[in-house]
Amino acid sequence: MEERLQKILANYGYGARRKCEELIIEGKIKVNGVVALIGQKADPERDEITINDEPIKTSNTRNVYVLLNKPAGYLCTKEDPYAEKTVMDLVKDVKYNLHPVGRLDKNTKGLLLLTNDGEFTNIITHPSFVINKKYVALIQGKVSKNDIETLQKGIILYGKKTSPCQINFRGYNKTKDMSTCEVIIHEGKKRQVRKMFASIEKPVKSLTRTELGPLTLKGVKEGTYRYLSMEEVNALKKVK
Ligand code: URA
Repeated sequence: MEERLQKILANYGYGARRKCEELIIEGKIKVNGVVALIGQKADPERDEITINDEPIKTSNTRNVYVLLNKPAGYLCTKEDPYAEKTVMDLVKDVKYNLHPVGRLDKNTKGLLLLTNDGEFTNIITHPSFVINKKYVALIQGKVSKNDIETLQKGIILYGKKTSPCQINFRGYNKTKDMSTCEVIIHEGKKRQVRKMFASIEKPVKSLTRTELGPLTLKGVKEGTYRYLSMEEVNALKKVK
């Protein structure tokens, strides 16, 4: 697809758009051997784009990062012959060999990243990497101040105490006897949020991850996805 050169370069990780415009103005970018002009369009699949006479990454070597708004009922697995529906079904038209970055339970909805960049996945999912994950949980029963304090301090899960976390009470529906809480954790223990509330005998009825570090679900409808820009990818790797 034809796009403005500065947009192509920015998407391929050569810096912010303004920086990429400068590269063009400085005459460092050529398209099919000819020095490119600012505003020029090109198709990275068809044209040879070079920076200082070195070809930019082509689609074969390019890493892509996808933000999916996962619906409930899809397994986070790359290949499972027994799974009826997997998140891979939702990104079928992406022609890169994607894998999910971490996991959400089958019935958890919301923000899930997929990529073909194994190094990125190692960074983001490494236990020492601190990245906030925000969930909205619908919980059976009335969650009390005391419950929140207990959970915020950490509970014993899989033989180890969970790190302190933040829980914001968002309301109680008397008719349905359901509470809504925002839960912000940076760990990724299996079924962590569900197990936290189960430990105080308040089952989670619905769980949605709404944020991952600086990323949100804004503009991405359930069951659809968008690509991350290189700026977003770089910002994610720098999250502390
Ligand atoms: N916590 C859970 O219980 N499930 C998820 O999918 C993610 C966090």
